[in-house]
Amino acid sequence: IRTCCLTVVVVGASGDLAKKKTFPSLLNLYADKLLPEDTVIFGYARSQLTDDELRSRIRPFLEKSDHPKATVEAFLNICQYQGGKSYGDKDAFATLKTRIEEKELGFSKDDKKNRLFYFAIPPNVFGETALAIKDTCIQKDEVGWTRLVVEKPFGRDLESFETLNQTLSVFDEKMLYRIDHYLGKEMVQNLTVLRFSNIWFDKVLNKDNVSCIILTFKEPFGTQGRGGYFDKYGIIRDILQNHLLQVLTLLTMETPVIVEGKGSGKAIRDAKVAVLNAMSVIDLDDVLLGQYDGYTDDDTIDNKDTNTPTFAVIRLRINNPRWDGVPMILKAGKALNERKAEMRIQFKDAPAGDFLFDGQPCPRNELVMRMQPKEAIYMKTNVKSPGFSAKPTQSELEVNYNTRFFGNNETNVNPDAYTRLLLDILQGKQAAFVRDDELRRAWEIFTPVLHRIEQENVRPVVYAQGGRGPKEADDFIYRVAGYIRSEDYVYYDNDV
Ligand code: BG6
Repeated sequence: IRTCCLTVVVVGASGDLAKKKTFPSLLNLYADKLLPEDTVIFGYARSQLTDDELRSRIRPFLEKSDHPKATVEAFLNICQYQGGKSYGDKDAFATLKTRIEEKELGFSKDDKKNRLFYFAIPPNVFGETALAIKDTCIQKDEVGWTRLVVEKPFGRDLESFETLNQTLSVFDEKMLYRIDHYLGKEMVQNLTVLRFSNIWFDKVLNKDNVSCIILTFKEPFGTQGRGGYFDKYGIIRDILQNHLLQVLTLLTMETPVIVEGKGSGKAIRDAKVAVLNAMSVIDLDDVLLGQYDGYTDDDTIDNKDTNTPTFAVIRLRINNPRWDGVPMILKAGKALNERKAEMRIQFKDAPAGDFLFDGQPCPRNELVMRMQPKEAIYMKTNVKSPGFSAKPTQSELEVNYNTRFFGNNETNVNPDAYTRLLLDILQGKQAAFVRDDELRRAWEIFTPVLHRIEQENVRPVVYAQGGRGPKEADDFIYRVAGYIRSEDYVYYDNDV
């Protein structure tokens, strides 16, 4: 990576995403010496700024990081600016191309001259921007690669996804990196290793043993000024159709032909598409919706009678031999009591409680993989109560990442999701990016119910902020998935 010539263009350089995520992740790579030595980063946007004005705009966001001031300043020095009249301004992109070429001239003929375009812009300008880049800035294959990074929302439904996809089709699929940042989280990336490198692990993941699977996303804050965007999309499109569904595919797919190395991008995504194809389309009966009390107090929400859900539980089915009949629950909510994202696999009752243990209850095993905060894996496991009693009591077999890995300075690395994914892009690894056929199927599964919710004006249940969400949710999950919640069980983080 260090010896090639790289130009990164952040399109939409003065927007929120660029300032909060793209530039800070590029800084992380720069600080860890994971960018080629003479990398240049161009910000592109519609304002007319000087290089220094761009730097002053992004500096406060970079200074929030743990990197020394000198590193931040050195990084800012490699950032330059190119303004344009619009995102489709071909003249401006042609000027940018000249600036890129001037830099590339300083490299030898044998050095690859690669160009990375990061779209930190709204999808309605993806099309014109992609065209302008295609007409001006695409590198010839024999000289280097051109890659394009895009972020959700990838449409509002199947139809708008197809339209958007069409506008991006001026780029070949192998040049396109669709980011779902959940695929860059440690615990999500861990799934393939956990499942396919342990002899016992994957063997228990099937309908014979598993009673249900629940993937949960909770956030302790509401829309916070993002209401303009959020109210058009809602929690199902914001979290379930992408982040949680992506995690579910990695948790439930069959073994890919190869998991790491050459060919894994295709193999993993083929396996994900196969399990998506086995999922049935969601019915309205499979859905429970909520909206937190006070949602419309956000000034950025115009429609004060909005039905947009901020909480949703959805039951999915996977119709294949491994998962036939096992309910899959996706649950997400804003303005709840905590920040948490986890995968929870509840196993069936052990066939022992009634007769082997004199009628004493044997709680169900449950495997929990916590994505955030503080990664941990624990299997709720019954052990004998220590001492004279023979009563089964719940304990756990666990891996706590803070104590096991991150507390130890030598291995103290837990890069954030965007940084990991950006590095994958530079290395041409596509496995952790969403392919068009995955996304198409995801929209096929979700679009009918999203349309019905809108057409039938389904009102969400109102829930109080700062709690666990609508009280109806637990009953719903029990009814559609048979999930038994052990209210008195608490998992303690044993970390320092
Ligand atoms: C984004 C959603 O994709 O993910 C936000 O648009 C949400 O609404 C965010 O807050 C959550 O990401 P994380 O990494 O903080 O769990």
